[in-house]
Amino acid sequence: MYSKKLTDDIEKELEMLKNAGKFKVERELDGAQGAEVEITGRKVLMFAANNYLGLANHPEINRTAKDAIDKYGFGLSSVRFISGTEGIHKVLEKKLSEFLGTEDSILYSTNFMANLGFFATITNEALGSAEHIDAIYSDELNHASIIDAFKLCKKESVAKRIYPHGDLAALEKMLEEDRGKGYRFKIIVSDGVFSMEGYLAELPKLKELAEKYEALLFVDDAHAIGVLGKTGAGTPEHFGLRGKIDVLSGTFGKALGGAVGGYISGKKEIIELLRQKSRTYLFSNSVPPSVVIASIRALDLLKEKPELLKNVSENAKYFRDGAKKLGFEVLDGIHPIVPVMLGDAAKTQEMSKKLLEKGLFVVGLWFPVVPEGTARLRFQISAAHTKEQIDHALQILSEVGKEMGVIQ
Ligand SMILES: Cc1ncc(COP(=O)(O)O)c(C=O)c1O
Repeated sequence: MYSKKLTDDIEKELEMLKNAGKFKVERELDGAQGAEVEITGRKVLMFAANNYLGLANHPEINRTAKDAIDKYGFGLSSVRFISGTEGIHKVLEKKLSEFLGTEDSILYSTNFMANLGFFATITNEALGSAEHIDAIYSDELNHASIIDAFKLCKKESVAKRIYPHGDLAALEKMLEEDRGKGYRFKIIVSDGVFSMEGYLAELPKLKELAEKYEALLFVDDAHAIGVLGKTGAGTPEHFGLRGKIDVLSGTFGKALGGAVGGYISGKKEIIELLRQKSRTYLFSNSVPPSVVIASIRALDLLKEKPELLKNVSENAKYFRDGAKKLGFEVLDGIHPIVPVMLGDAAKTQEMSKKLLEKGLFVVGLWFPVVPEGTARLRFQISAAHTKEQIDHALQILSEVGKEMGVIQ
């Protein structure tokens, strides 16, 4: 029997979280994700999901997933190298590579798993020499899965260098300092889109630095695939670099259907190595058939219905302009993540509560999720939102903003 101290300490920790206003409350939805959702029997406008293309409950995606279950069953009950790879996994990997303009791709159960798998495999596995030190250069605001991925890299064999957010001059200084240190591999890693601001990484400059200092460039494009670029191929396409980034990771759990599933895509040798040695691939279940087939359909839908991409981008602009016109401080950008800056954490908590009471679901973010003094409401816009719904959201935002003295 474990010591009572364990549960006592946990209780204390939970209490501390509550007292510090950091205890997360999960809202219970009744029914499907969408532009509107139901919470305790009441319809509210949803502006807090990564459902950028509105595919989370799209009739085409739902039908495809149902058909897939009829044909392939519900689950596969194992990993691909043990119980066999379904042809459909290979089809999705091939389609994804064509879409991204890369040589090859490998599926993981999530983007989180993909990131964990990539860094540990490249740095830990004996590739030629067992004695080595690699260097990783990472933006300080990179996603938690990248930060945790470093923890799986052996301390003694990886030098981790964190550069201030978006400060590529600081990154170059680090690369310059490290010249001649004899690192085996250098890897520069950045989110393609930073999810707290909706800001894009400066891929052209990152690529230039990677080339100059002979580093591998890894971009996590979770919030950009299906959202940015002429065909939705993400930040590389947006910057005219489609097919030119060494390694990409991403998810099917946001724009492309919103279920689960992640990937690494890039040089074929890297993908083959991951297939052979990546532990989060080898020792974790394969993506279920319904998700695989629906993800294939999602990639097709992007091609067949270019209006999805157009709508999400127009809706984002419409909302961003509207919130600015009301007098809110809104971060500039083109991404459907639209942060409305309030600064104060308590005000943000109160405002998100009041907005929900009036029928608008939006997430409030404060320290330590974002830097102290930069609390914000993070609106996420979808192609599924109608103009009327966006107008309604702006009207609620305006009412609550005035009531709380945030705007006049
Ligand atoms: C940049 C980034 N990478 C990875 C992930 C994790 O994606 P998944 O839910 O597929 O594990 C997220 C999701 O929040 C993300 O924003």
